Amino acid sequence: QGAAQSLPYRQYLTDLSTSLFSFVLPLLPTAEELATKEEVRGLIERLIKTIEPSSRLASFGSSCNSFGLRNSDMDLVCLIDNKEAALHASDLVAMIGDLLERETNFEVKPLPKARIPIIKLTLNPSPGLPYGIACDIGFENRLALENTRLLLTYATIDPARIRTLVLFLKVWSKRRKINSPYRGTLSSYGFTLMVIFFLVHVKNPPVLPNLQRIAPLRPMSKEETTIDGRDVWFFDDTETLRKEWSSANFESVGELLIDFFRYYSHDFQYNNTVISIRAGHLTKESKGWMNDIDVGGLNENARDRNRLCIEDPFETPYNVARTVTKDGLYTIRGEFMRATRILTQHRDQRDRAVLALAE
Ligand code: CTP
Ligand code: MG
Repeated sequence: QGAAQSLPYRQYLTDLSTSLFSFVLPLLPTAEELATKEEVRGLIERLIKTIEPSSRLASFGSSCNSFGLRNSDMDLVCLIDNKEAALHASDLVAMIGDLLERETNFEVKPLPKARIPIIKLTLNPSPGLPYGIACDIGFENRLALENTRLLLTYATIDPARIRTLVLFLKVWSKRRKINSPYRGTLSSYGFTLMVIFFLVHVKNPPVLPNLQRIAPLRPMSKEETTIDGRDVWFFDDTETLRKEWSSANFESVGELLIDFFRYYSHDFQYNNTVISIRAGHLTKESKGWMNDIDVGGLNENARDRNRLCIEDPFETPYNVARTVTKDGLYTIRGEFMRATRILTQHRDQRDRAVLALAE
């Protein structure tokens, strides 16, 4: 590695990066798809306002963090300014569910009793919309809007490298079936945090600054930076970032990808380390996130809760990877190793490497 890179190997890395760009490009959403989704958001917002005039419907997640793929789900959140009404979220979910059922073609599934009340909407495929639309509406989850903005700001610093890496890893994790939080593996959000952690805290020199720690030009009052009791401050002035921050790391996307896979295959200490984009490497012990075997007396499910630990950037007591089971982690690590192997074996044929990887 490093100084020892031979000319053909350097050429391979350049070619690999080109292949990654061309692999990701046709998977981006079309302008038409984005417009349709914005129309759907507006339509649902108008309907919801007939029940609760003080409400707004905002997008979050991949439709606005710049890591969206074609035909991805829509994440929406209903924000209610009338505090009185906000207290009755579960009644509201039921009423809105009924209304959408009556007034739209969506298949509606309100889950008012869920820990976080949501409404699931699906629009079946039609000639104009060959993949249909799947959409989750949550309520009052303001932290999700902030963490979406944080991811977007990170992407904006170095879009060519960050977006390519994250988008490729999303496609890869979906095709390799390790992007299913309901089946013991990790959400896209979790994979994205793993990438940012790697670029901020593992790469030396770093590819990205730590936006939550950068020379704190914080507002005077702490009030302004708190939502639901959490400190959500980060440096979000992208103009200044573009002018004043430049990375001393010039590795190509291909090189970073190989190193990402290698790091999470062999170097990262899954047993005792917590991934924190806010604070770097933390110990599970310092967070009280030991495997519950040590705690004793808890059920099987609880035992699996802290296999993989990723601290949420704002909701710091929350392990984003708590869905990952023992088997899930074993599979994910196996996939990191497979990817490392493929990328170091197919040096002569970079296109083949990229395709084999995301088979
Ligand atoms: N989110 C969260 N905590 C989680 C999972 C998700 O707060 N454990 C929020 C984040 O705001 C995230 C959004 O939900 O940006 C969407 O998460 P996810 O669906 O995992 O990511 P997307 O970028 O939308 O990816 P995909 O295209 O796979 O839907
Ligand atoms: Mg999503």
